[in-house]
Amino acid sequence: MSFSKDFLWGTSVSAAQIEGGWNEGGKAPVQVDFANVGSASSSGRQLIYKKKDGSKGQLTGAYAMFPHLPEYGEYASFDDIYYSNRKASDFYHHYKEDIALMAEMGFSTFNTSISWARIFPHGIEGGANQEGIEFYRKVFKELKKYHIEPIITLYKYDEPIYFEQTYGGWTNRQMIDEFVEFARVCLTEYKDLVNKWITFNEINVLMLFRNLPHDQKVAQKRYQELHHQLVASARTVKLAHQINPQNKVGCMIAGMCTYPLTPDPKDVMDNYKYFQDIFCYTADVMIRGQYPSFANRMWKEDGIHLETSENDWKDLKEGTVEFLGFSYYMSQCRTTHTYANTTKGNIFTGYENPYLQKSEWGWQIDPLGFKNFMHLIYDRYQIPLLVIENGLGAKDIVESDGTIHDDYRINYLREHISAMKEAVEEGVNVVGYTTWGGIDLISASTGQMEKRYGLIYVDTDDQGEGTYNRYRKDSFYWYKKVIESYGEDLD
Ligand code: BG6
Repeated sequence: MSFSKDFLWGTSVSAAQIEGGWNEGGKAPVQVDFANVGSASSSGRQLIYKKKDGSKGQLTGAYAMFPHLPEYGEYASFDDIYYSNRKASDFYHHYKEDIALMAEMGFSTFNTSISWARIFPHGIEGGANQEGIEFYRKVFKELKKYHIEPIITLYKYDEPIYFEQTYGGWTNRQMIDEFVEFARVCLTEYKDLVNKWITFNEINVLMLFRNLPHDQKVAQKRYQELHHQLVASARTVKLAHQINPQNKVGCMIAGMCTYPLTPDPKDVMDNYKYFQDIFCYTADVMIRGQYPSFANRMWKEDGIHLETSENDWKDLKEGTVEFLGFSYYMSQCRTTHTYANTTKGNIFTGYENPYLQKSEWGWQIDPLGFKNFMHLIYDRYQIPLLVIENGLGAKDIVESDGTIHDDYRINYLREHISAMKEAVEEGVNVVGYTTWGGIDLISASTGQMEKRYGLIYVDTDDQGEGTYNRYRKDSFYWYKKVIESYGEDLD
């Protein structure tokens, strides 16, 4: 058998995209609670705020992260806007049913995130919110009932607006203490229920600004924010081991597989630099405990002076992670030439590859790229890999008898699991695989529900209309079979 019996199979979701209950149980709002719904053809979604004169202002985000409001802006709700994350898939009220369905598929793991705004709605100053703490305790106990091991992410695209209003966000060093205290409460409260943790989701997306037109000020801000997150992460890793030596903590890096579009050595170099800058800059710090040598080149290119404290270097060195979690959806090409067609992606923009098919949302499908990418990162880091996100966003049709024939999703998953199997057979140490969004949830880039990733269908649409009943898709039965056969039966 290619996959061992203790290989972890399951799915991953995130608090903001699945829970709903946006103002229940003492939770305070997060940025994305004020974002609208986009479409496959639009450039994404917007955060809508109130201007001084009461009219609407719009901010376009890089993915699920929006810029902070302009000084005169205010977070407000408008009646004519549907805010899809506020109810999301209503996991907040359906978690028992959802976990029972996961157990029926035979999951051995489940990755979700904890909403910071449920645990500390108003930072350390406002105190921990017991109701929020109890909600996750109930979820984790439910998982335990079915022997599903949680992998818990502490921070995933849901910045509480309190931190923007109080500190101006992660450029402020104070955020390190806020995060570490939040982590301490979670690590302590759930000590007996959770021992696999991820500190930040796709932490490297902060570096994506380098791909867009930007000035030195923006660059300085992003590098500084990322430095603070890296230090907060390292301190959390150390704390996790003190609180429970059984704890294993990983990083989660957005994986992108890119190819040089032409054999022009300039394209080859550009492609390699992209891997260094967007993936390794953060992964090196989290896995090897220090910034890579090419960080100097990047700081020079962007005119950066990092503000650091002496303890930062020690903490980064001591707080390295034990597994490398990553997401993988697609691949793209890179080129220094200007004639190529750009192609879409969630967070990465790149160039079209004539050899690949695309999803309905324009994402290029590349299972071999998945295998390539696993070899690349395992060769470099030599620590266990955990595939935290992989899946296909597509529209589904519910037949009159309630069945959903999503063979396109099955094909995507089959090809990617096969590629992962080959990587394992060729020596890559992969310890688990969680498909993205196994229960339909709100898309991060467009805010849509109709861009479905689930194996479990949630009966609601882009405007929140529907019963929120759950239905098993064909992929549900297929994945169950894959898990039962330890990844051998992919037919
Ligand atoms: C990942 C994110 O990069 O992509 C998820 O971590 C996101 O939050 C997923 O949902 C798919 O992207 P999208 O935009 O289709 O939801």
